[in-house]
Amino acid sequence: MVVLETERLVMRPLTGDDFDDYARMLADPEVADGLAESVGTSRADAWRSLATFIGHREIRGYSHWALVEKATGRFAGRAGPWRPYGFPGLGVGWCLARDHWGKGYATEAARAALDYCFGTLGATEVISLILPGNARSVSVAERIGHSHLRDTEYRGQQVHVYGQRR
Ligand SMILES: CC(C)(COP(=O)(O)OP(=O)(O)OC[C@H]1O[C@@H](n2cnc3c(N)ncnc32)[C@H](O)[C@@H]1OP(=O)(O)O)[C@@H](O)C(=O)NCCC(=O)NCCS
Repeated sequence: MVVLETERLVMRPLTGDDFDDYARMLADPEVADGLAESVGTSRADAWRSLATFIGHREIRGYSHWALVEKATGRFAGRAGPWRPYGFPGLGVGWCLARDHWGKGYATEAARAALDYCFGTLGATEVISLILPGNARSVSVAERIGHSHLRDTEYRGQQVHVYGQRR
């Protein structure tokens, strides 16, 4: 999987070495509660989640990247293409550690991920599943050019489907 670079982020493959940062990110209920891929907040939950993202790369050849803040080298979150079994299309997703909210990193990474989906993966439609009430995620979706397409059920929850075609 390639490494991408944006103005302020390096987007590189997630590895097992990201576990402590990843677990700290998901330990915050404000972060975990936003995720349509609902996970818990424990370190065991985080390990399974990280393993799923790394395993997805093995199976699909692409997955979320770790987002590394260029200025500091710190782990800021994850974002990227996503299509696990049962997902209703090619997705692009984003998740930031709480102390990296409000800097524009999710939008910056999501734009790069979206270009990768259309340009490299050859997608014609890219979607994002967003839980009702996740206004910050809706804002990211709208900033990258998504619009609300429909609602659906995903893993037992009602979710909004945002997306765009190119
Ligand atoms: C969803 C989530 C990634 C959004 O994070 P975010 O920080 O609001 O989104 P961005 O990184 O795009 O940042 C946008 C904000 O940064 C601000 N910003 C500051 N500096 C900026 C810059 N240089 N460039 C762009 N925006 C900047 C913007 O004005 C905007 O602020 P606002 O929220 O007050 O309007 C974050 O809330 C999160 O990780 N939530 C938990 C997980 C989750 O819900 N994931 C989505 C599942 S669908």
